[in-house]
Amino acid sequence: MAYRLSINGVEHEVDVPGEMPLLWVLRNELNMVGTKFGCGVGLCGACTVHIDGQAQRSCSFPVSAVGESRVSTIEALAETETGQALQQAWLDEDVMQCGYCQAGQLMSATALLDRNPQPSARQIDAAMQGNICRCACYTRIRDAIAQVAE
Ligand code: FES
Repeated sequence: MAYRLSINGVEHEVDVPGEMPLLWVLRNELNMVGTKFGCGVGLCGACTVHIDGQAQRSCSFPVSAVGESRVSTIEALAETETGQALQQAWLDEDVMQCGYCQAGQLMSATALLDRNPQPSARQIDAAMQGNICRCACYTRIRDAIAQVAE
């Protein structure tokens, strides 16, 4: 079935089964491979994108559920003020280790700061708890978000 999707401000048409997760539409149909596959069952956060500004797990979000919603991915992160600030903070705090989870981490962090520009440490932890980092960079991730929130 054909679906029209608004992704990073650009309209795309894809012909895929409605139950296909948005993650695979992005990666396999549109070659937008910045969004990562981790667990595939909504538990690790590696596949996080924004749907109408909300952080969502694209691995468990069927393409048929996107409808008229606006999808944003890591590829467009630098187009927003918050995204630019977070990218710089990530560099300043030397956050990354293996880097695999970082697209998802940044998308969750951006969604948090867009709805709450000055979150407390507890609010940062609550917003980020669904994003797993196998290198355990959690302290640096929290520090980078706090740097932007100041
Ligand atoms: Fe989607 Fe893990 S790959 S939450």
